[in-house]
Amino acid sequence: MVSAKVIRGFLFASVCFLVSNGAVKAAGGVPVPQQDWTFSGVFGTFDRGELQRGFQVYKEVCAGCHSLNYISFRNLTDLGFKEEEIKVIAKEYEVEDGPNNDGDMFTRTAIPSDTWPAPYPNDNAARAGNNGALPPDLSLMVDARVGGADYLYALLSGYHEAPEGQEVAEGMYYNAYYPGHQIAMPSPLVDDGVEYGDGTKATINQQARDVSAFLAWATEPNMEQRKRMGVKVLIFLIVMTGLFYVSKRRIWADVH
Ligand code: HEC
Repeated sequence: MVSAKVIRGFLFASVCFLVSNGAVKAAGGVPVPQQDWTFSGVFGTFDRGELQRGFQVYKEVCAGCHSLNYISFRNLTDLGFKEEEIKVIAKEYEVEDGPNNDGDMFTRTAIPSDTWPAPYPNDNAARAGNNGALPPDLSLMVDARVGGADYLYALLSGYHEAPEGQEVAEGMYYNAYYPGHQIAMPSPLVDDGVEYGDGTKATINQQARDVSAFLAWATEPNMEQRKRMGVKVLIFLIVMTGLFYVSKRRIWADVH
């Protein structure tokens, strides 16, 4: 009796899970096309060239409105930058520090251990600069949205003329993938908006792809280590299973 109840409960919970999972996707708006990322899958790794280009897009375009609070300059070593290069990048920025011995805050040139400086001093200033809308911090954005990097790519390359009959409110922009299709962020990317050092052509789609990969790294800088560890654990478990099987056969060999 009890076990039948347990099974029914389990089936009900599974159905609820499947249904609610579908609903979450629907609430995210239109389904987003899946991209082929080098970092997907169990053995996926980041493409350093792509990350560096994506960082350039973030730095030259997105950083004007969006903070990246959880990333510090020295984290850029993961992207293949050398310490000297990082010092040079940090020197381009001023950060607030203090208090000094007189109790006053002061500004100084950034050093590699500083986190990425935010474009606005606080949320109200950010809203005031963006028609009342808050540009969210991008550090964890890829994990914060259903679809992750696929959604970001679709969003950034999804600005079109609004279709016939679709009203777009003042100060809003039509986007094919944003829930509700009206977003307060104007299309941040234009063809050749940045000039890539490695000669890659900076189309809107290319920049959208690179910056989405960069933000996927920013969300989980330790992804490669995690995956390597996962593979090691799997190999360990397979070897242990083999050893246990052999010992079991030996121990029980004489029992007929
Ligand atoms: C001119 C300022 C500005 C620039 C430049 C800008 N954004 Fe935004 N962004 C915004 C604002 C404002 C919002 C909030 C939109 C809203 O709430 O409708 C936003 C929202 C977003 C969101 C959240 C969308 C969601 O699902 O909620 C993402 C992701 C994003 N921006 C990524 C980027 C990236 C990547 C870049 C650089 C390529 C960039 N933005 C450049 C102003 C900007």
